[in-house]
Amino acid sequence: MSRRIPLASPDETAALARALAPHLAAGDAVLLAGPIGAGKTAFARALIQERLARAGRWEEVPSPSFTLVQTYDDGADEIWHVDLYRLEGGAEAGELGLDEAFRTAICLVEWPDRLGRDLPAEALMLTFEIGDGDMRLLTASGAGARGAALAKVIEEVRATHA
Ligand SMILES: Nc1ncnc2c1ncn2[C@@H]1O[C@H](COP(=O)(O)OP(=O)(O)OP(=O)(O)O)[C@@H](O)[C@H]1O
Ligand SMILES: [Mg+2]
Repeated sequence: MSRRIPLASPDETAALARALAPHLAAGDAVLLAGPIGAGKTAFARALIQERLARAGRWEEVPSPSFTLVQTYDDGADEIWHVDLYRLEGGAEAGELGLDEAFRTAICLVEWPDRLGRDLPAEALMLTFEIGDGDMRLLTASGAGARGAALAKVIEEVRATHA
């Protein structure tokens, strides 16, 4: 478990997300936890748009809070942006096709606690807390070897971008 990383503005959150973007590969899962308005979508949007930009692409990245899943193609990998806030139980999670996406795509998942035991064994968990004003506090932790490696990446990019 890392120290809490202060993110003083939406720009700082976006910068950290853009720095993480090139380190992700197919099969990676980033779980985005924290309360409503904490910055989960803001982080995912910046990460996705960075990967699209590196492929010379641009797309709007709306919150998937109503559609549950939005998918993107960055030319190399499929990206799944998922918001499970409205998920109605495990059966629905299965219908979304998340199991396969966790194996084949880069998955960014808001409200991952809704998955219960269906969480991927290897994942980077980013937990956002809301501070005063625009302050957000981020804690990075990793499950499994790949999750730990990605948590280390967060610490490293944070050190070089701070
Ligand atoms: N430091 C910051 N980092 C990220 N967002 C910030 C920050 N400061 C203020 N904000 C604002 O907080 C809001 C975050 O909204 P966002 O949709 O990303 O939240 P969310 O965690 O996805 O919420 P939900 O659970 O409803 O999906 C935005 O309006 C954004 O501009
Ligand atoms: Mg959101």
